[in-house]
Amino acid sequence: MARPKALCLADLEPVGPGTPAGRYLRLFWQPVMRAKDLAPGRAKPLEMLGEKFTIYRGQDGAPHVVAHRCPHRGTPLSLGWVEGDAIRCRYHGWKFDGTGQCIAQPNEDRPFSQKITLASYPVREYAGLIFAYLGDGAPPTFRQYPDLDRPGVLIADPVEVLPCTFWNRFDNDHGHRHWVHRATAQRLGREDILILHHETAEETAYGWKGTRSVKGRGGDAETSYGEVLSGAKAEAERAMGLARVTHWFMPNARLLFQRSRAKGFEHREVWDSKVVWTVPVNDAAHATFDVTLTPLEGADARAYAEARAQQEQEAETRWDLAEAILAGEMTLEDLPGDISGYTSFTIEDYVTQVGQGSLAERGPEHLAMGDEGPIFHRRLWLREVNAMMASQPLADWRLPAEPLLPNGK
Ligand code: FES
Ligand SMILES: [Fe+2]
Repeated sequence: MARPKALCLADLEPVGPGTPAGRYLRLFWQPVMRAKDLAPGRAKPLEMLGEKFTIYRGQDGAPHVVAHRCPHRGTPLSLGWVEGDAIRCRYHGWKFDGTGQCIAQPNEDRPFSQKITLASYPVREYAGLIFAYLGDGAPPTFRQYPDLDRPGVLIADPVEVLPCTFWNRFDNDHGHRHWVHRATAQRLGREDILILHHETAEETAYGWKGTRSVKGRGGDAETSYGEVLSGAKAEAERAMGLARVTHWFMPNARLLFQRSRAKGFEHREVWDSKVVWTVPVNDAAHATFDVTLTPLEGADARAYAEARAQQEQEAETRWDLAEAILAGEMTLEDLPGDISGYTSFTIEDYVTQVGQGSLAERGPEHLAMGDEGPIFHRRLWLREVNAMMASQPLADWRLPAEPLLPNGK
């Protein structure tokens, strides 16, 4: 049999059922919603991987992901009522239990509910998120992330949905921080964010690891900007090593360590261990789920959780600001001075990534030495998806059993 033609990056942009990237992502559990965004007894529409679903939480608290539409005549089940652990369609009252089995057809003289089932998907709740397995057959073992399972303050940030391909988020390598987040760094007086790094990549049992070193003292204008602002900070960070690694858990999660930007903590040596999942909503939008674990206890932990809560209110209007910046009505330097550093980071990332559009809209790229992370990530993805399309064995990615936090912090 002829071997399928090798895919290129643009072939990995569509994510619907049957597409190469869609098939690959459906081999793994994916986060689909933040747990606190789904109250008991509530149903909502859900779009993930180019498919629509209904998600609901039973009155006993168990989440469920089922088909979007009622199998009777196609009304979205998200419009219906949650009754116990079941969902009832708003159109003619058909009712489905937590496994998707139809259990009531109240308008029928001769009900045939035992013959009607609704697609339903395995669901797990973990680290403040709801995960679902949207692929075929039995799900793989559920992955836990030891860096999030430590004692401390666990925060699932408001979910970010950006109207652009998930590749724009994948490609958001470390080299952007100095430039994209310059306005926040200057506003918070955080020179460490302005340090220029060079990143190298190596494959691991779980995907790949990016390691950074402070960029050499080359003396060109861009480098000296970072040097002038960083100075001794760069040395301190070099010695500490915390911000120097990113671990990519194939296919679409990564772990990084960042010094907190929360109000009142922005000048303390408080570090978040952060896991970020990037999940396509459809071909032209993606969701980012950020969960941080900050190893604080007692009064410090309470104060930290309170400071981070500022993001919740700001999430309502942050994309209005981002769109105004993209439209040229204001600049990133014009953002309100008291906005949370976490929120201004999301706005800064929004404008650069949404502004990139689709892969095709970027036009021909000119990749350089500084793009090692994205190049490595793309290569791993292409290797795995091409292997899947040719029915060849795939890498059996294994998450570490212990936290990856360096320096024993
Ligand atoms: S469409 Fe759902 S019960 Fe008729
Ligand atoms: Fe960023």
